[in-house]
Amino acid sequence: MEYHLKSGDLSSQRTACLVLGVFTKRRLSDPAAAVDLATDGQLSDILKKGDMDGETGQSLMLYHVSGIQAERVLLIGLGEEKAFNLKGYLTAWGSAVKQLNESSVIEATNALSAIPLTSIELPQQLRESVITAEEQLYRFDQCKSKATPPKRPLKKLSLFIGEQKKTVAVVRSVSEGEAIANGIKLAKDLANLPGNICTPSYLAEQAKQLGKASSQLKVSVLEEKQMKALGMGSLLSVSRGSREPAKLIVMEYSGGKPKAKPVVLIGKGLTFDAGGISLKPAAAMDEMKYDMCGGASVIGAMAACVKLALPINLVVIVPSSENLPDGAANKPGDIVTSMSGQTIEILNTDAEGRLILCDALTYAERFKPAAVVDVATLTGACIIALGAHASGLLSNDDKLAAELLEAGNRATDRAWQLPLWDDYQEQLKSNFADMANIGGKGAGTITAACFLSRYADKYKWAHLDIAGTAWRSGDQKGATGRPVSLLSQFLLKRAGLVK
Ligand code: BES
Ligand code: MN
Ligand code: ZN
Repeated sequence: MEYHLKSGDLSSQRTACLVLGVFTKRRLSDPAAAVDLATDGQLSDILKKGDMDGETGQSLMLYHVSGIQAERVLLIGLGEEKAFNLKGYLTAWGSAVKQLNESSVIEATNALSAIPLTSIELPQQLRESVITAEEQLYRFDQCKSKATPPKRPLKKLSLFIGEQKKTVAVVRSVSEGEAIANGIKLAKDLANLPGNICTPSYLAEQAKQLGKASSQLKVSVLEEKQMKALGMGSLLSVSRGSREPAKLIVMEYSGGKPKAKPVVLIGKGLTFDAGGISLKPAAAMDEMKYDMCGGASVIGAMAACVKLALPINLVVIVPSSENLPDGAANKPGDIVTSMSGQTIEILNTDAEGRLILCDALTYAERFKPAAVVDVATLTGACIIALGAHASGLLSNDDKLAAELLEAGNRATDRAWQLPLWDDYQEQLKSNFADMANIGGKGAGTITAACFLSRYADKYKWAHLDIAGTAWRSGDQKGATGRPVSLLSQFLLKRAGLVK
């Protein structure tokens, strides 16, 4: 998709379709009111006929509107004017893009982007506009023998910004949106691939490919032999039950000053989680191909960072394995020794995410990180707590937590903090090892994070549990690409490029 910024007079914009917004009770948004004036009240006349009153979800395509240069006008309902915010804007814009992509129009101009939003700056609005458009256009048909793309797909979108200035930040925001959308697409593609294609080796290969695209990005992959030499007994115990060799993917991007401490992102890369000997029930088990979404999201965030050539140092680590039942697999009661030296009693082999992440967290120490954020589809309990709307956030540093929450709010990719109080640590007591890998019935998301915290005490660390947000189930089944947006916003901010 090609994106352009347009400003000036709306009625003289030459375009196949002009997208305009209407609030409830047929109140025209300012850009729509300007067009109404230029067309001698044609828009209000049409609205008076009652075909549309501005409710969210409504739309109306108009032809032959005279007095303007646009061939068509697409009216989109924006809901209550008082409640209109970034989310409402993006919903409206997203539905417009979807309709246009399915119509014969291949080029359009968005005038919804000229409706100012309180407390959101224009660059943020534009960045999100691009991400939302790409979200609507996303298709995954790599595994279909015959793809069925739209007959006349959209090729060019103009974002109209009215009288507002095309400042450096405004112009840059469009390419930032494209880079982030690109990272989201990569994360979705990796995640949507089935477990028999997207194996740990495949993930490692994709990471290496990314490394070829930039001289600032170095990608290395640690093999099981090297992990053994490092003492990663916990990670390797998970992969022992699988015929696919585990990989530890390490991507090092140096865009910052040579001595500047890097941000380290760690993503759970479990390419299929059957639960191991503590086998999962059959229903919806296919969705456990998505257990590498954390890994995919940090690779996606790295791709965005590289594309934007951010002036920061960034390390991405993806421990990758399968979790399957097999004669060599972990058995309940087994005790393993992690790279940190701490021993773990594996009371449930399905709590494998923390077993691969703990060794990656220890490995991260060598980078002397400014901060470490791990991202993982870690607990079903997080879906019970927060559903599909927010990712769970836990941290040993309140400032880092606040930074990530703010990034999530701004990027409409929200997280919600849960406590990491010592009180919960007790649940991990083991009679036979330093700790158990499960914490019993209550507070499953917190006890999982408590487990990880024991490997993250050397640096500022936060954990994002994306079990509920990483993919959708049901007939809309598919990866969401979350939290690439949150992470990208966090990195842009660290790079000093956004507020
Ligand atoms: N990958 C799962 C978590 C998960 C389950 C994410 C369902 C999304 C949907 C993780 O490895 C797991 O199995 N966790 C267990 C932990 C339990 C055994 C303490 C869980 O949540 O049931
Ligand atoms: Mn599991
Ligand atoms: Zn898992």
